Amino acid sequence: MANNPPKNADAVPLPYPNWTPTSWKSTSYTAPYKYQDPAALKAATDRLAQLPPLVTSGEIEKLKKQIAEAQLGNRFILQGGDCAETLDECRPEFIANKLKILLQMSLVMIHGLSLPVTRIGRFAGQYAKPRSSPTQTADFNGQSITLPSYFGDLVNRAPFTPEDRAPNPNLIVEGYKHASMTLNFIRSLLDGGFADLHHPEYWDLSFFHNADLDQDRKAQYQRMSQTLADGLAFMENLGEQQVHESTRVDFYTSHEGLNLHYEQAQTRTVPRKDGHFDLTAHLPWIGERNRNLDGPHIEFFKGIQNPVGIKVGPTMNPDELTKLIDTLNPQNEPGKIVLIVRMGAGKVADNLPPLLSHIKNSGKLVLWMTDPMHANGTTTSTGIKTRNFNDILTELQQTVEAHKQAGTVLGGVHFELTGEDVTECLGGAAGITEADLTKNYVSLCDPRLNYQQSLELAFLLATAMQP
Ligand code: PEP
Ligand code: CO
Repeated sequence: MANNPPKNADAVPLPYPNWTPTSWKSTSYTAPYKYQDPAALKAATDRLAQLPPLVTSGEIEKLKKQIAEAQLGNRFILQGGDCAETLDECRPEFIANKLKILLQMSLVMIHGLSLPVTRIGRFAGQYAKPRSSPTQTADFNGQSITLPSYFGDLVNRAPFTPEDRAPNPNLIVEGYKHASMTLNFIRSLLDGGFADLHHPEYWDLSFFHNADLDQDRKAQYQRMSQTLADGLAFMENLGEQQVHESTRVDFYTSHEGLNLHYEQAQTRTVPRKDGHFDLTAHLPWIGERNRNLDGPHIEFFKGIQNPVGIKVGPTMNPDELTKLIDTLNPQNEPGKIVLIVRMGAGKVADNLPPLLSHIKNSGKLVLWMTDPMHANGTTTSTGIKTRNFNDILTELQQTVEAHKQAGTVLGGVHFELTGEDVTECLGGAAGITEADLTKNYVSLCDPRLNYQQSLELAFLLATAMQP
């Protein structure tokens, strides 16, 4: 008998039998930030390795099945949340509002697309951020000094002081604790019936009546919200019990798996299952800046059983994408690969079609998702980072069109959003102008869609995707 028989008799052999959660350390890797105290780093990751998982392997497998359905066009995936969660915003009102907007958007999509929708939050662990520069030079106590950039609350803190900006291993455990509190609250809200969105008082569509909106758009919104209201009333007539059942939602978590010390510490084998699961989130993803084939992130991600997201920017070519997919999913397992395409309005129409046809012809199973946020950043003349609602919408529409032309399935969408009334992105039915941006700009990282802009985009996406 083999020394190490598969735990599941039906399972195919693991593609990388010698892989371990620490294999990534053997790649040549220069992290953009450095922990100064190796003993403290070891103590933090050892502790995290002992703590209970945030998610379970059973949930991860369930999500993989749902992604497999979405790959075939039988389901739609809605992924959204903050660019960077902060420890400070681990508060019930923020969490509930983000959950609420995702649930509302998903109802619009269920209705508009006539498909089941899976919700995945950029929640409960989106604490580590890639930065374009590893350091920042600014004024501190009247002197210009250079410090590490802010890499998110899992690594260091935002205030520009030497103490805050030093990478701090204790934040790895703090991040875990806040992720755990966030997830605990979300699970309780969902179990307690928060997801029963058939209550009309949960809806605030008054902004659709904005006087500046053109007549066609206004009429379109009125029709859509009426259809939705009718649908919800119909569901209500099914009776309380059934309504609860039919609107009962699963909820999944995701974050960029940037800090591999954090991911590694929660990556484990599970009784009666083969392989390792990264139990910090259901769907970790690899960022645009960290997807080089011989880098540590690909090395880490190729060994885990979770579905894996890959950001796909405008420079991706078919060869490179094929190699990435082959490395991360050598057995072409359904539900495993989520391609989160972020090319930018204008670029996507030219750069996406060659990828679509190449992957389609190769028979590789992937979920095509669009992230119309990350390549549509602009800076105002006064230096504020923003995104324009119309660019986001244009990238969405061009993506839908590219899939229609290629005969491929757009199976999901990825938004940076918040449930709050922030003014970070320009435009939308509420008409946010450059002058408005300073009114309530909160994000420490990228600008997010506010509540109204998010809901509006859900309606517009549903419209664009009509056959
Ligand atoms: C993000 O999703 O916040 C992000 C940094 O994205 P990207 O890796 O696509 O730039
Ligand atoms: Co972002």
